[in-house]
Amino acid sequence: MSRFIVGLTGASGAVYAARTILHLQRAGHKVSLIATAAGRAVAEYEGQVAAFDLADEVLNIDDFFCYAASGSADFEGMVVIPCSMGTLGKIAGGIADNLLTRAADVCLKERRKLVVVPREMPYNLIHLENMERLTRAGAIVVPASPHFYNKPTSIEDLVDSVVAKALVHLGVKNDIVRQWGADV
Ligand SMILES: Cc1cc2nc3c(=O)[nH]c(=O)nc-3n(C[C@H](O)[C@H](O)[C@H](O)COP(=O)(O)O)c2cc1C
Repeated sequence: MSRFIVGLTGASGAVYAARTILHLQRAGHKVSLIATAAGRAVAEYEGQVAAFDLADEVLNIDDFFCYAASGSADFEGMVVIPCSMGTLGKIAGGIADNLLTRAADVCLKERRKLVVVPREMPYNLIHLENMERLTRAGAIVVPASPHFYNKPTSIEDLVDSVVAKALVHLGVKNDIVRQWGADV
């Protein structure tokens, strides 16, 4: 059992965070949720506030005394899902001005897993350069690009195709979606 941090921002797709929390817990892990103000507002607008009840704990984004702000804290890694271009830019620029961006900064400096799941379209040059910068710093950028080769029949199927990939790169093995070629 490990502890993971899930960062929820104001990009569209709060359901990605909710499904990530669910699947991390099903895999036997504890989840600490950090949400930005915009993340909370958009989650409410999209009918996904249940994510806050699902998490094992919800951390106060203004609390820099929280363990998640420290490099000596015991958490395995972090996924920011969905990640707004604003938060992505802050992390890429080393701007640790809230607990979410600080925890992401900690992951990079401690060489822990940091998976960022951006949701925007189209990308401008600043978005792309920030993603390049994050990748160079050790983060893994997993765009919220669901796939269709598993023949999804529900929104959850589509969402899970992104969540499964994010979790693999977080180091959490899962069989949320059938691996290509697994049953042929
Ligand atoms: C309904 C709604 C959907 C949004 N979708 C996105 C999005 O997909 N990607 C994005 O980068 N910003 C999106 N935004 C804008 C962000 O919420 C806004 O830039 C905010 O400042 C991000 O703050 P945060 O990074 O602190 O969460 C959306 C806003 C609203 C109200």
